[in-house]
Amino acid sequence: MYDLILMIHFLSLGAGLGISLTMFVLGLQAGKIPPEEFRPMMGRIGLAMKNVAIAGITLLVLSGIGLVLVERSMVAAGGGWFHAKMVFVAGVVIAFIVVQVNQARARRGENPPVAGRRAMLAGRVALASAVTATILAVLAFG
Ligand code: HEM
Repeated sequence: MYDLILMIHFLSLGAGLGISLTMFVLGLQAGKIPPEEFRPMMGRIGLAMKNVAIAGITLLVLSGIGLVLVERSMVAAGGGWFHAKMVFVAGVVIAFIVVQVNQARARRGENPPVAGRRAMLAGRVALASAVTATILAVLAFG
């Protein structure tokens, strides 16, 4: 059971980091593509990836909680690194919500340039927090 949940933990982590990194790299094209082309492009891709991203982060957090519930000793085994990881997990979740809220605002036409920029910035915070959480997880359990 534990191994199955750990597989889900890794697979959802892969999905989340993959999407996050892809959006980051696409965001770097901002200066090279005219805004009237760039914004709808990012909007379309953001919308296309929305459900996969939500599923990824939900499964990641649920499988993480599942690991701890199945094997309670993991919290003590992970020690301070594990608690530090949880702080960045919270960072990922909050930043992800900010991304989704701002993408939805941009889609509704509520000041799309500002909402789009906020979504991109929050996406970078989510990616950096996820990378940090991953590093801390390896320090805790590796
Ligand atoms: C952004 C969210 C998360 C990321 C990026 C993440 C990342 C990782 C990574 C990379 C590992 C493997 C570490 C290793 O085996 O060396 C791991 C393991 C683990 N994670 Fe997470 N995790 C996240 C959320 C959570 C949450 C919310 C919990 C629990 C409440 C959790 C609990 C665990 C546990 C118990 C392990 C140990 C698995 C093992 O090695 O047997 N994780 N996590």
